Amino acid sequence: MSQRIVTLISEEDIAARVKELGRQITEEYRGRNLVLVCVLKGSFVFTSDLARAIDLPMRIEFLGVRSYGEGTTTSGVVQITQDLSRPIEGEDILIVEDIIDTGLTIAHLLDLFRTRRPNSIKVCALLHKPSRTRIQVPIDYLGFTIKDAFVVGYGLDWAEKYRNLPSISLVESD
Ligand code: PRP
Repeated sequence: MSQRIVTLISEEDIAARVKELGRQITEEYRGRNLVLVCVLKGSFVFTSDLARAIDLPMRIEFLGVRSYGEGTTTSGVVQITQDLSRPIEGEDILIVEDIIDTGLTIAHLLDLFRTRRPNSIKVCALLHKPSRTRIQVPIDYLGFTIKDAFVVGYGLDWAEKYRNLPSISLVESD
């Protein structure tokens, strides 16, 4: 069985959308205590591009998570493998995700962070698959809505591979 990588969202289209999101976030967070929270591993590429599209002083934090579930889907039971380096009380938290699929991971993270008394918490996701929603979560900033297909690249993996592809792509088997 051979596999083909087929581009779904090009490098250029991602770059243009990330710049727009960065401009919007810059306007809305001016004068506030913005902290970007990069949810590892998938959002490391998106976070690094988004951060450079935001023209504000801000902190960047990294959160290690591991979700256990039925194979390729999350169960919503999220284990924190690497916590934030500092408290977030009184700060304006923007959680950065590569993809929101069932919504279970982000719902868990919102519950977790609310207990730490930040000033605000919002969500920025590059991709959303509404057809797979199991729990509705707010997505304050969204790059693209996609169909229910397995996507890789720009941080997203297939068995830990393809995270370094510059575009969002489909893996097709024949
Ligand atoms: C992906 C993604 C989100 C989560 C979304 O992470 O980065 O964290 O799944 O799925 P959900 O909305 O159904 O909860 P993954 O578990 O693939 O780990 P990774 O980021 O390390 O690749």
